[in-house]
Order: sequence, then C-alpha cells, then structure tokens
Amino acid sequence: EMDRFIDSLMTEMTLEEKIGQTVLFASWWDITGPVSENDFVDDAIKGKVGAVFNALTADFIYRMQKEVVEKSRLGIPLLFGYDVIHGYRTTFPTPFAMSASWDLDQIEKSCRVAAVEAAADGLNWTFAPMVDIARDPRWGRIAEGAGEDAYLGSLIAAAQVRGFQGTDLSDEATVLACAKHFAAYGAAQAGRDYHTVDISERVLRDVYLPPFKAACDAGVATYMTAFNELDGTPCSAHEHLLNDILKEQWGFDGFVVTDYTSIKEMVNHGSVANEKEAGEASMNAGVDMDMQSGIFMNHLKQSVEEGKVKEATVNEACRRVLEMKYRLGLFEDPYRYCRPDEDKQSKIKSPEHFALAHEMARKSIVLLKNEDHLMPLNKEQLNSIALIGPMTDEQKQQLGAWHTTGQPETVTTILTAFKEKLGSKTKIYTAKGCDWEGDDRSGFAEALAAAKKAEVVVMCMGERENMGGEAASRVHIDIPLIQKELIREVHKTGKPIVLLLHNGRPLTITWENEHLPAIVECWHLGSMAGPAIADVVFGDYNPSGKLTATFPQHLGQVPVHYNMKNTGRPYNPEDHFTTRYQDCSNDPLYCFGYGLSYSSFEYSAVTLDTNTLTPDGKITASVKVNNTSNVDGEEVVQLYIRDLVGSVTRPVKELKGFQKVMIPANTAIDVNFEVRVEDLAFWRKDMSYGAEKGEFLLFIGTNSDVEQGIKFELSSDADVEPYTIR
Ligand code: IFM
Repeated sequence: EMDRFIDSLMTEMTLEEKIGQTVLFASWWDITGPVSENDFVDDAIKGKVGAVFNALTADFIYRMQKEVVEKSRLGIPLLFGYDVIHGYRTTFPTPFAMSASWDLDQIEKSCRVAAVEAAADGLNWTFAPMVDIARDPRWGRIAEGAGEDAYLGSLIAAAQVRGFQGTDLSDEATVLACAKHFAAYGAAQAGRDYHTVDISERVLRDVYLPPFKAACDAGVATYMTAFNELDGTPCSAHEHLLNDILKEQWGFDGFVVTDYTSIKEMVNHGSVANEKEAGEASMNAGVDMDMQSGIFMNHLKQSVEEGKVKEATVNEACRRVLEMKYRLGLFEDPYRYCRPDEDKQSKIKSPEHFALAHEMARKSIVLLKNEDHLMPLNKEQLNSIALIGPMTDEQKQQLGAWHTTGQPETVTTILTAFKEKLGSKTKIYTAKGCDWEGDDRSGFAEALAAAKKAEVVVMCMGERENMGGEAASRVHIDIPLIQKELIREVHKTGKPIVLLLHNGRPLTITWENEHLPAIVECWHLGSMAGPAIADVVFGDYNPSGKLTATFPQHLGQVPVHYNMKNTGRPYNPEDHFTTRYQDCSNDPLYCFGYGLSYSSFEYSAVTLDTNTLTPDGKITASVKVNNTSNVDGEEVVQLYIRDLVGSVTRPVKELKGFQKVMIPANTAIDVNFEVRVEDLAFWRKDMSYGAEKGEFLLFIGTNSDVEQGIKFELSSDADVEPYTIR
C-alpha cells in the first residue's frame, strides 16, 4: 500500500520537488517566539524544503504545516524535528546520568514521556538518542550518551528507541528517533569536539558501532551523520559507513540526515574543493537529507544534470523520506501531531510525568563514598544543616546540557526540597559561597560562617550545565578551582561534609575522595533534582546507581576505561619496566560499574553448572548475593568475561550481562546468568565475526574491579551473526 502510494506520488514529482524532500532547515526565534527566516516557508511552498527543525509549539507548527500543505503544488506535509534529548518540558536527568541507573525499563519510560510531550506539541521527530560511546571525559558530549561500554550502550540505545518510537509510528504519542552521530564521534582526538577521529576498523566495529546496530535492530527511523572525519573521510560522505555498513549490511530502511551544516564543512575538512562537490560526495555516499547547509537545495539539480549524481540516487533519498512521512500517518492527516488538542496538551508537565522524572532522577544518583555511614542523614535528629555551593538553590543549571525546551521554573531546587523534607525543626543555613568559576572569594566568609553554625555541611558543587554538551571540551576535569578552594576552606572547619557533585562528565576528584567523608554523584538531574537528592541524602531512597564511565585519578591517565588490553608488560607497581606511570598508579579513582548503597552486599564465590561450553549450549553461572545490612537495597549484579587467548588480543574484561535486583535486608538471593557463544563473539583476525575455541574467565561482581574469575572453555570455534546482543 505504502509503496503504491509513494510510487504514484513520485511520478508526479519534478526533480526539484524530489530534491526538496532531502532538504531540512531550522526555524529561529525572536522575542515573539519561533519565526521562519530565509524565506524557507516560501521555499517549502515551492516544494524545495521537506522538513523543518527548531519550530516550536503546536500552534506555530500547525500554521506552518497548513501553509505548505494548502499552498504547495503536491501538498506534501513537512516533518518537524527537534532536539528532544532528555525530556521536552518535564526534564529528565541528562542521558549520561540516566545510564547510571542501569534500568532499561525506566530509561524507556523516560523517553516515552519525552515523546508524548513533544508529539503533543506538534513535533514528530527527535534528534535522539545519542548513542556515541565516549572514553574521554574531556569531551563535553559524554553527557549526552550512555558512557564507555558498547554492551550497556547497546541495550540503552534500544531502550531509548523503543521509548521514543513505541511499536507503531503512526501512534500520535510517538516520534521518529534518530541514532546519532554516525559514527565514532566520541573518539575525537584529545577529547576536542569535532576533532579528527583515527581508529582501526576493528575498534570501530567492536566499540563504536554496536549501539548503532542495536538502534537499527530496534527499528530506529533515522540516523544522523557525525561531524568528524573517520580514516580521512568526513562522516557525511562516508560511503563505507553509510552505504556499505548501514544500508547494505544492516538493511537500514529509514533515512540518513547530516548533522548541522556538516556537508558544507567538508570544504573545511579539505576533502572536496567546493560546496557542489560536497553535496555530490554526500548524496553518493548515502546521505538522504541535508541539515541546514542548503547545498542539496542549491546544487543537486545541476549535479544530476551533469551526471555527477544519478537521478536514481536522489529518488532513493526522496523515497526514504516520504516513507517516514507515510509511516507517521502524515499523508492521511498532516495535522495529526500539531492540531491544537487540549487533551494531549494537558499531558505536558503532568503530575505523572513529574513522578517519572522523580523516579528516574533517584535511580540516576550514584553514591561514591560514605565513610562510617555518615549518610543517610537522620532528619529526625538533625537540628542544623548548612547548604553551601552554587547549585544550592539553582533551577536552570539542574536542567543539564541539551535541555533545549526544558524550563528552569519546572525545577525544584535542592534547598526547596530540603526545606520540605526537614520542616521547621531543622535550621538550614545557606550560602552560595562562590560562583561556578572565576576568582571572586567574597562569598567564602558567609559560607564558612554557615558551616560553623551547622552540625553537618552539604556542599552542592561541580559543573555548570554548559560545561558539558556540544563544544564543551575541557582540559581540566576537576571541580573548577574556586570551588575546590571553597571545599578546602570548609573542610578546615572540621565539620562533616557531604559533597553533592553536579557534572556532565567524569571528574578527577582525587583530593575530595581522600579528605571528605561522603560524596554523592548527582549529575544534572532535571526538573525533580531537588526531591530526588533529598530522598537520597535523608534515606527515603536507597541509592543504586553505578557509573557508566571511569572516573580517572588524574587527567593524564585518559583514555582510561575498564576494558583495556593487558599489554605484553602488564601493570606491576613493583616492576619499573611494566606499563605504568611514574607518578600515578594505573587504577581509576572509581571504576566502571562502581556505586555504593546504604545496604552492604557480599558476593559468594561463583559456580558454573559446567566448565565446557559448546557452540549450541549454555553455561549457567551462579552467585549468592547477601544483603548483610538492615536496609533493603537494589544491587546491579554484573557479569564480565575475559577471552584469554584470541586471534587478536582481547580486553581484560568485557561486560556481558547484568541484573538489577532488590535484595531485602539480611537476606541472600541467588543470581544466575546464562552464558552462550554469542557472548564470546568478536571481530576476529580475518574480520569475520564469531567466537574462538579456548579458555575464558568469568567474573560476577559489584563493579568492573571484580577479581576472582572462574575458568571455562569453549569447545570449538563458532560463527555468530554480527553484533548479536543477548
Ligand atoms: O542534533 C544536533 C546535533 O547533536 C548537534 N548539532 C546540531 C543538531 C541539531 O540541533
């Protein structure tokens, strides 16, 4: 049916109109709200533009859609895209924070809320999820992804796609998702945004591509190319990535959009001489839509006429875009997303959505240190508390990087939530103390006075939201200097300090870890940041988050991630000629998978039902996890595997499974994992995908630093369908 409809529509379209479907332009704002510039509504009416982004509100979108549908020759509706990254109006924690929940179901629900709100306001396409693996905390965009691990990143990518798209794209409460940035954007040299990427094909496939493939398998409708070059070719003209891997090998049937003006930027890259050539390279490599550079609009017709681009290639791109419009139901009803509808609008910022944002925020918090059980603070016994730091009463900064449509006024601050939780019997002394950066120490005295008056000090410190996100690379990943100084001054008062960290990236908080008794990673948690933090601080919620990227001791260790290689001279602090630094151990400050709880968990030795795995069989690995404390708690039980000998060297450990389980106080539970040959597969020396006969170590533990592995063997080599994730 769809094919017949599109075939017939395309027979009526001119080449220019077909090119028009491959053109995406942004709407802008002035003080009156969103406006359309560059005459692109006129262009859309002429059939020269097929999609718009950054237009906001159902009303505005409705009017624009109406203009185009009613006045254009063929009445083809526009697509409306937006960066709905972690919530629309109800703001959820940043994606990196959410990943620390290891809770796929909750992440899916969060994306669904974002989709419901965005779709109620006229949008039908989000530029999310960002599924870039990031192993370098200098890169600000680590805040937008799911951390350093391909396996976890893949499961989260699929959950996000399911959340945004649901099972039926024509459902008015869903939007098209966009897996970005294809590919290897997170591998920018030295963590500098937009910088060159130069990695092996093997690393590309083993580390960076799996989450993109998982998004494809989950049915993601669109992909966005990356700004960077890969092996000398800008990703927006990377035929191997787009045509070979994505469309041919993976069978992706949606459309590929570029990142913002990235076709034009190929001239700067130096891979083409001019814009026209850039457009040709891009379209020929498999790009279907040009975001914002206007190059397809301005040059593609001539390129076709000159035979530089086949008309069939343009037809194919146009068809892919039209198919998505069809699947959204826009041909049936161009106004289905944007028609003013009070019922749908009432879902935006609804109490249910705030409740989900609250739950997601609590689950994203990671307890990093808790000496002598300082936390949770006992609200019944607490007479006074000092709240110090730039995040204390902040709304906007809690929204986090790429909050786009998020509204500061939706945020309940830490101070507000503490007041509510503590009531009037506990005196709260507050002081900002200092700004996020700079050298103004004039607030120090007030902060110190507040600290001295209180029984316990809670310091709300870290990064401003725009220290993470796009174009936010940093060579210092400490807490900014002025804040560090304030922490040290307050520390001198001798008061117990709980440090609440707010940041989009792993930070080097080595001094703080050494000197402060309690540290809680609170990221930028969105609208319900304050209540979620107050729940954890006062024990109404037992934290269970685990880090999804390594926190280094020192920036000089970067890149540092848990799944590195052993090398020929493995680390030995006693042996000079081994792979090590003179002035720092190789250990991270907090490893991947790390996070504490108010409960304490003990793991038994792991047992296997058999030590030999056959290619069509399975091994069941079991462990007893004992909650030896008096509080119920959730634990993320993690399974890692090491392939001891491979045709190419293998990482010292790889995450291959996890289970998030609630364990009642003073209770032990059995946790079982099944291991199959798919879990052992990788890109072998000859670039085929499969598992190799031989010995493996299996680890189950509370984080990636688990030591005692148990041996098993795989009885023979086995081919596996590439990128299979169980
Ligand atoms: O979606 C974003 C992308 O992640 C970075 N460049 C701009 C795009 C559209 O806003």
